[in-house]
Amino acid sequence: MTLRRILQVLAVLVVLGGLAAASIFFGAFEKSVVASSVDTPLSADEMKRLAARGAYVAKAADCYACHTAKDGAPWAGGLPFDLPFGTIFSTNISPDRQVGIGAWTRAEFHRAVRDGVGKGGRHLYPAMPYASYRMMTSADVDAVYAYLMTREPIAVPNRNNTLGFPFNIRQSLTFWNLVNLPREVDGDNPARSAAWNRGRYVVDALGHCGECHTPRNLAQGMDASAYLRGAVIEGVEAPDITKAGLQAMGFDPVTLARFMKSGLSAQGGMTGPMFDVVHLSTQYLSEDDLKAMSAYLFDLDAVPDVATPPPAPPPVAVPPVLAASARATYLDLCSGCHGVTGQGIPHVAVPLATNASLRLNSARNFIHTTLHGIPAQSFPGLERMQPMPGFADKLDDKTLADLASWMRAQWGGRPPDVSPTEVSALRRRAH
Ligand code: HEC
Ligand code: HEC
Ligand code: HEC
Repeated sequence: MTLRRILQVLAVLVVLGGLAAASIFFGAFEKSVVASSVDTPLSADEMKRLAARGAYVAKAADCYACHTAKDGAPWAGGLPFDLPFGTIFSTNISPDRQVGIGAWTRAEFHRAVRDGVGKGGRHLYPAMPYASYRMMTSADVDAVYAYLMTREPIAVPNRNNTLGFPFNIRQSLTFWNLVNLPREVDGDNPARSAAWNRGRYVVDALGHCGECHTPRNLAQGMDASAYLRGAVIEGVEAPDITKAGLQAMGFDPVTLARFMKSGLSAQGGMTGPMFDVVHLSTQYLSEDDLKAMSAYLFDLDAVPDVATPPPAPPPVAVPPVLAASARATYLDLCSGCHGVTGQGIPHVAVPLATNASLRLNSARNFIHTTLHGIPAQSFPGLERMQPMPGFADKLDDKTLADLASWMRAQWGGRPPDVSPTEVSALRRRAH
């Protein structure tokens, strides 16, 4: 081939590549899962009828958690999401006509929630979990819409994001959507029970558990090949919640269903971002939905009536010198609240001997909690836990690493291999 010919071919390729990129950019490949029937507005009667159910769906989908800032007005948005390239803020979805969604049509709302495309074709950042809500049924989205329209309109203007170029170009999210959004939504699996299918819907669509518990791939989408197998989020590990992961933490289906309601069990207490999930969302799930969620996560067609916790992992041997010094640390600093044998004290502190955090592959969550503590938390049913103090200034890296090794080996059945370097890395992280 002559040079001239090669250049011609290259020119054609560049033009074709440019055209392909441009057509993705302008949304030519975008696929809406929203049916055109939602172009018809709901009648006032339908809106009224749907609102009560919408309150439940909105809880199960945890909309409030992200759309209400700390100490902010309900539904008025403003909660910051810190990303590596800037901060974005959740928006006001109260029915205020100027700054909220009061003037949004039913169709606009559906497209925002399920396609990630807001009013006027404005693309939403995937911090809004539309990749999960895409699986929501049209009836459920209607119900949430009807419910939100009954809330008090709050005239708090939206805050400006601080994203730099090129991340501030919303239209470029068409590329993310092309790679990460399922084009079709799976229907029910006819080979499985109604409970299993409902559970999948509660976990994947409403509860969007995968947004935190599934690791991200290079394109920052949920990595389907590691579905629910655990990911680090805000410095803590959202653990593996597949059947194997749940069993390793000591859960059986009945115990898990109770835990998602109460936030407390022999496996410990919900902390950090997961506390908010229970507090604002799963505690309100119906018994049937809690069971369905458990059935799906344990891959069962029905949840048994009685709890059958998996046996405790056998302890792993620890060098005697390490064991003696770690035990002394434990008796000195921890046993007053957690009990001499780690059994916990009801209404005071959770058990550690049966604690999920000691059974995980990684010691991250255990070290994180011990360094930084836990604020006082109120659990459903008027249960309260006092604050757990942080021990960052009482335990040096080596002492805490030894304590973690000993506790994990004794109660979690894990090899005693926590290193001072691991502790030091987590200590340096701002809480
Ligand atoms: C994990 C956090 C999170 C959850 C949960 C969440 N949202 Fe959002 N939502 C956001 C963020 C962040 C934005 C702003 C995205 C942007 O600016 O691109 C947003 C934007 C929106 C918008 C677009 C508003 C506008 O003015 O453009 C709507 C509508 C919306 N969310 C509705 C909902 C509903 C309904 C639910 C529950 C079914 C929900 N959201 C749950 C984080 C969340
Ligand atoms: C906002 C992110 C987020 C979402 C959404 C989320 N989780 Fe979690 N989850 C976490 C984090 C972080 C932890 C670890 C914190 C801890 O140890 O309590 C966790 C811990 C857990 C645990 C173990 C509890 C323990 O004792 O450590 C279970 C079980 C769990 N999540 C189930 C779920 C299910 C089911 C859903 C969906 C309904 C869900 N999570 C949604 C972040 C999340
Ligand atoms: C003043 C009482 C107190 C002391 C002392 C204390 N803790 Fe705690 N700890 C608590 C309470 C209360 C909780 C449960 C908090 C909650 O879940 O809201 C807790 C929770 C924990 C958790 C989280 C368990 C889970 O379920 O996620 C770990 C890990 C832990 N403590 C380790 C330690 C270690 C290690 C020490 C000693 C270095 C220690 N604690 C000393 C009160 C205490």
